[in-house]
Amino acid sequence: MRSWRHGSAAYLTGAESSAFEARRPRMTAKLPIYLDHHATTPVDPRVLSAMLPYFFEKFGNASSRSHQFGWEAEAAVEKARELVAELIGATSTREIVFTSGATEANNLALKGVAEQLGETGHLVTTAVEHRSVLDVTERLSSRGWEVTVVGVDRRGRVDPDAIDRALTDRTRLVSVMLANNEVGTIQPIGQIGKRTRARGVLLHVDAVQGVGRTGFDVNDFNVDLCSLSAHKIGGPKGVGALYVRRSNPRVRLLSQIDGGGQERGLRSGTLDVPGIVGFGCAADLLGSEGAGENQRLAGLRDRLEHRLVSELDGVSINGDVEHRLPNNLNLSFDDVSANALMLRLSEIALSSGSACSSATPEPSHVLKAMGIGADRLLGSLRFGLGRDNDEEQVEYVASRIIEEVRNLRSSGRATDAGSRRSSGLE
Ligand SMILES: Cc1ncc(COP(=O)(O)O)c(C=O)c1O
Repeated sequence: MRSWRHGSAAYLTGAESSAFEARRPRMTAKLPIYLDHHATTPVDPRVLSAMLPYFFEKFGNASSRSHQFGWEAEAAVEKARELVAELIGATSTREIVFTSGATEANNLALKGVAEQLGETGHLVTTAVEHRSVLDVTERLSSRGWEVTVVGVDRRGRVDPDAIDRALTDRTRLVSVMLANNEVGTIQPIGQIGKRTRARGVLLHVDAVQGVGRTGFDVNDFNVDLCSLSAHKIGGPKGVGALYVRRSNPRVRLLSQIDGGGQERGLRSGTLDVPGIVGFGCAADLLGSEGAGENQRLAGLRDRLEHRLVSELDGVSINGDVEHRLPNNLNLSFDDVSANALMLRLSEIALSSGSACSSATPEPSHVLKAMGIGADRLLGSLRFGLGRDNDEEQVEYVASRIIEEVRNLRSSGRATDAGSRRSSGLE
C-alpha cells in the first residue's frame, strides 16, 4: 500500500528520490515566500518522481485491455485508487471516481444526484461553501429545485441542529464542506452525518481543504459523497476524485460526462494516468506524514499569529480558533485595506478577503456570511501554510507585515481601495 513512500518505492530508486528531494523548493531566506497553500500547493518532489515514468516509459492508456502498456497503466491507476480510498476510510476502491478536480467532483455529486432522481426536490447547503458548490445549487434552483442555504455563526461554523431543522420530507441531499478555504473553520461533519443518516438524506462533503488536516472518515461520519482535489495536498493540478458510497445506502448518480464509459460509466474520458499516480502518492504521503506535519504547521501558524496579534493593535482573528485548520490563519487589520497591504508585500504570496478583480473590491461571501463588518472585511488577509514553510519565513513575514501595517496607518493611506491585486481566494 505504502510503496510510493520516499525511498521505498516501486516507482522510485533511492538515488532518484534523493535527486528529487534536492529539487524541493527551499524558500528559506529566499524570496518570494509562498503562503497561499489553500489556493494550491507545489507538487511534492516524491510525487513528481512517482509520476514521471507514466509520461514516457509507461505511457499506456489505462483502458487498453489488449497489451502490457495498458495493463501497467491500469495497475498504477488501481493502486492510486487504493491510496485515495485509504485516506478517507472508503470501504471499497470502487467507491472512488477520478475527475479533473474538485470542481468537477462537486458538480458530479450535486447534479448527478439531482438528475438521477428524475424529479425535483429540496437540497440544503451552507452560506460558506466554495463557489463550485454554491453555483451548482443556483443552477439546480433554476431547474426547479428548492435550495435552503443555512447560515453560520461569527466563527464560520454551522450548527448541526440548524441543518436538521432545514430538512423536509422533500430533502434529498445536504452539502457541507469539511473545512473552509478562507477562514479554515472545520465543520461538525460527524454530527451532521448522524442527523442526515437518521433522516435518510444523502450527505455530500467537499473535503478539499480538510482532508488529512483534521480527523475524517467517510464511514465514521456517515458521508455518502465526498470531493477531493490533488493539487491542494502536494499533488498535480487537474486531478481530483468523488467518493460515491456503494452500500448502506448505495448512492446512484447520473454521469455528467458521457463517452467511453470509464470510471464505471460515471465519468467518461481517458484517464490522466500520471496525474492519478501523483494524486495517489500525495494521498499516501498525507496519510502517513500528515499528523506530524499538521503539528508543525500549527506551531508555525501560532507563532505568526502571536507576533502579529501581540505587536500590532487592532488585529482580529477571523474563523474559529478551536475548530480551525492547522495551516490556516485569517486576520483583519483595523484601518488597513488588505489589498493596499498586499501591494506593499509583493515578495509574499497571500490572499485577501476581498476579490477586486473588477474595479470595485468584492467582499468575500464567507466573511459576509460570518457577519463581519465592512471595515474588517476589506482588511482581511489569508495565510495558508504548507510543507515548505519554515520558522525563518514566518519570522520574516511577521516582521514585514508589522512594518507595512504601521507604515500604512501612519501615512494615512491605509485604505487603498483602488488596488488592483486580486485576492485569488480558492
Ligand atoms: C473548498 C474547495 N472546494 C473546491 C475547490 C475546487 O477545487 P479544484 O481546483 O480541484 O477544482 C477548491 C479550490 O479551489 C476549494 O478550496
